[in-house]
Amino acid sequence: MSDLHNDTFSAIDIGVTEQEKIDMLDEVRDLPPNVHHFNDFRGCTMISIYNGGGLLGGRETGSKRDGVFDFSAGGKMCPTLMRVCREKIFPFMNPPGRVTILKTAPGTGLNVHIDTTESEIGNLHQKYRLVLNGNVGKLYFIDRDYNRVYVPPHYDSYSMDGGHPHSIDPDEEEKITLCIGVPWHGASNKIYDKMIKNSAFRMTVSRPKILDEWQDPALK
Ligand SMILES: [Fe+2]
Repeated sequence: MSDLHNDTFSAIDIGVTEQEKIDMLDEVRDLPPNVHHFNDFRGCTMISIYNGGGLLGGRETGSKRDGVFDFSAGGKMCPTLMRVCREKIFPFMNPPGRVTILKTAPGTGLNVHIDTTESEIGNLHQKYRLVLNGNVGKLYFIDRDYNRVYVPPHYDSYSMDGGHPHSIDPDEEEKITLCIGVPWHGASNKIYDKMIKNSAFRMTVSRPKILDEWQDPALK
């Protein structure tokens, strides 16, 4: 895999319109409490949108991991979100990744974490993110010297290395992000390659030695 695909952060333009973002945000905000669950490790609320079966703490469990992927009950309540996934996101993913909404309350950040196991770091492990609400410049990565390296405050649509320790600072606003990960990893294909090549901003951050507390106990 070329380095092109393994940047720490790459802004990508998937052609989502402002109106679609407004409609998706409305749909997500209208979802009932019973489709939300709290993820203790990351410190945020999650809503499953598209996956291969049951979820526990943000991950599929047991035999359900290999289930047929489909929109969840919550996902089916969000028609614009489903259409944007089918028309603008899944076409650059083979296979399409699991789709989850992450919500962090106003004044709340995330715990620093990696979304992979330590042994997977350095492999292609891209995640796609579309920020529907909140300040996009609160995302940061930890560098070799344990400094925070913030992304620029301009890009609400991006892929990022889930194996690089990252977090978001508390925001005055509720942060709502559409998150897509495994089984998509950022593999090369025509559409995705073109998006990365046309990226308005890409950056690579040096890697720190991984601390135990950054690793998700559910992945160990
Ligand atoms: Fe993450």
